[in-house]
This record gives sequence, C-alpha cells and structure tokens, in this order.
Amino acid sequence: MKGQGKMVLNSRLKWVGLVGLVLSAFSLFVHFLLARFTEDGVIEYQSSITVFSWRPIFESANFPRTSPMYRRLWGPIRHLESLHPDANPRGNYAVTDPSSQTNGFIFVRIRGGFHEIRNSICDVVAVSRLLNATLVIPEIQSTTSSKGISSDFKSFAYLYDEDQFMAALAKDVNIVKTLPKNLKWARRKKEIPSFKVRYSASPYYYLNQVLSVLKKHSVVELVVPEGGCLQAILPPELEHNEELQRLRCRVAFHALQFRQEVLELATKVLFRLRAPGRPFIAYDPGMTRDALAYHGCAELFQDVHTELIQHKRSWMIKRGIVEGKLQVNSAKQRLSGSCPLMPEEVGILLRAHGYSWDTIIYVSGGEVFGGQRTLIPLHAMFENVVDRTSLTTPWELNRLYGHEANIITSSPRTPPPIEKEMKHEAWKTSGPRPRPLPPPPARPKSYNIEGWWGWVAESDNEPESTVMELRTNAHKLLWEAIDYVIGLEADVFISGFDRDGNGRPNVASLVMGHRLYQSAALKTYRPDRKEVSKLLEEIHDHLYHANHTWLKSVRKHMRKRLLDGLIEASTKSKPLSFLSHPVPECSCLRYDSNETSFHASSPSPQSQVQAALRVAHRCPAWMDNDLILRSKDKDNEEDLDEDDSTSSGLFFRRSGENHESGGGDSNNKEEAQLDDLEELEGGER
Ligand SMILES: *[C@@H]1O[C@H](CO)[C@@H](O)[C@H](O)[C@H]1NC(C)=O
Ligand SMILES: *[C@@H]1O[C@H](CO)[C@@H](O)[C@H](O)[C@H]1NC(C)=O
Ligand SMILES: *[C@@H]1O[C@H](CO)[C@@H](O)[C@H](O)[C@H]1NC(C)=O
Repeated sequence: MKGQGKMVLNSRLKWVGLVGLVLSAFSLFVHFLLARFTEDGVIEYQSSITVFSWRPIFESANFPRTSPMYRRLWGPIRHLESLHPDANPRGNYAVTDPSSQTNGFIFVRIRGGFHEIRNSICDVVAVSRLLNATLVIPEIQSTTSSKGISSDFKSFAYLYDEDQFMAALAKDVNIVKTLPKNLKWARRKKEIPSFKVRYSASPYYYLNQVLSVLKKHSVVELVVPEGGCLQAILPPELEHNEELQRLRCRVAFHALQFRQEVLELATKVLFRLRAPGRPFIAYDPGMTRDALAYHGCAELFQDVHTELIQHKRSWMIKRGIVEGKLQVNSAKQRLSGSCPLMPEEVGILLRAHGYSWDTIIYVSGGEVFGGQRTLIPLHAMFENVVDRTSLTTPWELNRLYGHEANIITSSPRTPPPIEKEMKHEAWKTSGPRPRPLPPPPARPKSYNIEGWWGWVAESDNEPESTVMELRTNAHKLLWEAIDYVIGLEADVFISGFDRDGNGRPNVASLVMGHRLYQSAALKTYRPDRKEVSKLLEEIHDHLYHANHTWLKSVRKHMRKRLLDGLIEASTKSKPLSFLSHPVPECSCLRYDSNETSFHASSPSPQSQVQAALRVAHRCPAWMDNDLILRSKDKDNEEDLDEDDSTSSGLFFRRSGENHESGGGDSNNKEEAQLDDLEELEGGER
C-alpha cells in the first residue's frame, strides 16, 4: 500500500515537473516577446530564470563587475596570482616503465568516508611506487556491494573512474584491476600476509618491514582503516621524497576523477548555479556529528542533539579515539576556536564583509548536523541559499545511484526490553489504610523511547546500521563528490570547520588544498575561529546591529586571513594531511622577469607570501604564454586590498544597503553615521 502511494506520488511529481517545464518554457517565451518591446527586457529575463525549486531573487538586474567592491568580494587574491599547478616530475626522477620490474602485488582495503578514501588512495599509490609494487585497484569498504548499493559498480568504480585512474598513472605505477587468479584464491582463504597500517606510517616502515614480506610472498594486503597510511610530510633524507609528494598530487588532482555520471550531474548543478550570471559562494558547514563529538561541542546544541553528540563522544572515549572527559565546557571550546562556526556566524561574517543579501550561497557537505534548523538564520540573511537538493531532481539522483535492489524495510528496531516494575505486593502489605492508589498499569516504555531516542537513552552502543543506512552512507559519498566539484569551482569558498571526527583535516580542507593547487588566487576564506568568536562576543547583545567600527574590524580580519590562514594551514594542516596543503611541492611560480624578482632587495608583499609558502620553483617556459595579458590590470588592483571605505551599519536590513560606490577616498576617521549616510545617498543602483 505504501509503495502504491509512493508511485502515485511519484507520477504526480512527474506531472508537476512537466507542467512546471511547460510553464517555464512559456514564461521564457513571454519574456523574449517582452524583450522585443522593452529595452531592459533582457535584464528582466536574466533575473528571473527558474531553476527547479530555486527561484533566484536579486535586488537589481545589473550586477556591477567593474567596481572595486566587486573585486574585493569576488576578484582574485593578487598575492597568489603567480602560483600555478605543476605536479609533473622534475629533474632526474626516473619515469620508467613500471611494469618492467615488480616486487609483487599490493592489495588494499580502505575504510572511512569521502576525504579518508581520497587520502588513502594517494598514500597507497605512493607506497606502491616506493616499493616498486603492482597496485591492485583499491577496494573501498563503504561501497562494496554488501552495503546495499547497485550491483552495477565495483567498490572503487562507485565513486571513481577506474580506467582514467590506471591511464593517468601508467608512467608511475603499475596498476591492475584484480589479483591474478591463484592469488585471488589465496586471498579468499586468507592466506596472504596482511598489514593493518597506521595513519601516518613512515616510509621506512614499508621499506624495512613490508618490502621483505612482499618479495617473499609476492603479494601483501594492506588494510587502511584510518584514512591514510603514509606520513604527510616525508623525511627529507628519503630519496625522491618531493617526487613522491608530486605523485600524490598527480593521483589526487589528475588521476582520481569521479565516474562519468557523477561528473555529469556535478556539471549540471554548476551550470544551474551559474545560470543567473552571477558569481557564487560555496559554504561547507563542516558540522558532522563526529567532529562535534570529538571536539566537545555538544552544548552548542540543545536537547536530543546534545544527547546524540554526547553519546558519540562517550563511544569515542571508550575506544580511545578521544582522550579527555565526557563533559566539556562547549562555550570555552568555542571561544578557543575548537568548534565549528555556526551557519549564523558565517552568515554574519559574510554580510559584514559586504556580500549582499541576494548573494548566491551553495551549502555543501554530506551532513549538516542539526539539520535545516541550524541553517534558518543563514536563510534569513541571504535570499539565495541553495544546496544539492534544490538544484537536482530526485530522478537525476536516482539515476546516479544505479539500479538498486528493493529493500523490504523490516519493522523499526525494537528498543531494548524493559523490566516491569509493579509494586503490587508492596501495596497490598504496606501500612494501614487509607492507602495510596495502586500503581498504574505498566505502560510499554517504548512509548517515549522509540527509534534512535530509544538507543540513546538505553544503550551505550551505537545501533547496528541497517542496509538502508549503509546505502545512504554510500549515497552520501556521491553527494560529497558533487559538492567537492562545486566547492572547487566556486568563486568563493568558506568553511565553518576544517577538522573531522579524528581531529584531522576534513573534506573542506581537501577542497581548500585542491583550490590552492588548481587556482590559488580564487578567494578561499579561512577565518580564525578564535578571533571570530571574540569579535562576535563583542556584539553579543545586538548581533544584527553592528556599528561601523566593528564591521571594519571584521573586514580587516577576513582580508588578512586570506593569506594568514594559508600560512597557518602550512604548519597546522599539512603535517596531518598532505592533500590539504600540497604546496610548495606541487606548485610553481610564474612571474615577469622584468618585475622585481623573488630575491629583490625590497620584497613585494607578493614575494613575501611566496617566501612564506616556500615556493621557489619557476614554472616551465611553455606556461608563460599569457603572461602579458595577465599583468595588464594589475595596477588597478594595487591598493584594492587596503580599500576599506565601504561599509554599512545595520547590515541585516534588506535594501538601502551595500550601495557602495567604492570611491575609495572617503576618510576612514569619519563618523560612522555620516559614512552610512553618504553611502545611502551616493549609492549606485
Ligand atoms: C625500485 O626501482 C628503482 C629503479 O629501478 C630502484 O632504484 C629502487 O631501488 C627500487 N626500489 C625497491 C624498493 O625495490
Ligand atoms: C562599536 O561596537 C563595539 C562592540 O559593540 C563597541 O565596543 C564600540 O565602542 C562601538 N563603537 C562605536 C564608535 O560606537
Ligand atoms: C622585458 O624587458 C625586455 C627588454 O628589457 C622586453 O623586450 C620585454 O618585452 C619585456 N617583457 C615584458 C613581459 O614586459
């Protein structure tokens, strides 16, 4: 019956979709018709494109692209413009035919979520190269067919393109799809030697302990349970250590390509995001239950959410993942910058920095703990907050998952049994009359502890995952893959948190690392959570009515952190995950030889940044083609970063704000009020 209802609903949805399509086609037609008669008809059309459940609303049709304000919010980071990706082998690193000599097969089983899978794959490729071994395409445990996913995919192929992976690395490592038959058989009988490897195992561990076993048995199995298996920063005395890092980059940024269907849908989403013709922000809240539990941030939530986080934390303490007490002062943790920034806080930062209420914000990440409720303040501040679900249709997603077997959902988990506690005997015999009423009849306790609430209240263990949940976890990987692509391509990226449930760099960190590699100059905000908490405390009582001085300090902070945050990542994130900060190994510098060079006596701010990131390698000559083109509008941007004339109080208001002409010459010392007034009067529409 339920299924029928669903089908009816489904077909009804399809009809609604069809009618919607027809209607929007009609409205397009009308707009074009109007456009022939009115001058600004085209603009009108641009701002009213309907995309699925999202209908973008913009304050004004024409979006200024030439103002300093535009460049402050959306333009490239000038200091990083000369940084370019270069992960090719350098110097005398032998690019030989790796298949000519092999010490044996390495078979890998990887556990963990999206970012852990990525880290692990890069690591095992580097290890295979280190040992001159043949790598069998790794098995990703969370997408093996036992997890309820479609049988169309083998585990690796659920997420990534196998052929691309093998082809892209053909010169580096010998990769095969499966073990030879005899070894496969041995593996099934558990006769091949197996190593469970630590998160940051040293390369010498492999050379000294694994290699001899590999040579002897010509196969080893590596189990990678922690999201990585090789030190992020390799010992400098290791031969070719930098080349191994560049190999990791080639794996992560070139060989690991999502499977065709995922890429196609991601491209569609990107296209829909860009349809209104405006730049957009990708925001990853980074609020997963694991991360919140690990960092002791339970009290930032309420009621059952707090309980759920604490439950996880006690589980983590039991397993030794967390060292520390169960009860943590979350307010203190937050002030010290150990907790994620809440969506509301990120929203305030963005508004304070100058992004107007009609900015497009794409919320990414497979899990936002606390659900839509925590996003409400963000929706209140920004009109165009979208996510994966508002830019795809259910059938597009279903096609992505492939043909999945129907799962007959059994009745929900029964809560743990309860003991009846009726005190009839006591009642009969206790004391003289009048007696209290007899106890009420036993009410099944499951009345208030159904489902997940039941196990939080009754059991110390997490419930076993159902096949449905395992399947959802696999789907989550695909969602994260789509969001990864969007985050990579976004004009601006900001994340609320950069750590996962083990205190290590999370998906957002990997996105930031990839952006640093691929397009370093794209704006990637890395606010200092400690500073931000302090700033927000200052206006605690009137969050939405900040004054001019405060706004200015936020802007200064955001601007400063574009670079400071990057330099901080090189000392704090890189030692934990190479992919979160693949610089300087995988980047090169492209600068005009006529400019003040890198070693000039008075270093420019640009070269200071390069020095801090320790990038010294010059890009190969073939990259220099468009250099002259690029340096053209440099002068205009010279003082852009220092331009702080634009600001507006009461930034929560919808209109009458952000009309900044960006003249750049208003006196910073002027009264805040006067400044606001000027902006109101001299604003451009
Ligand atoms: C791997 O092959 C290279 C090049 O032939 C050789 O220099 C290196 O010693 C080999 N390493 C191992 C661990 O066999
Ligand atoms: C602006 O607000 C901050 C924080 O509330 C306060 O400390 C400061 O005195 C205010 N400045 C002015 C000029 O009102
Ligand atoms: C650099 O200077 C040389 C002459 O000193 C000139 O020919 C060349 O065009 C200059 N290159 C650029 C990119 O300005």
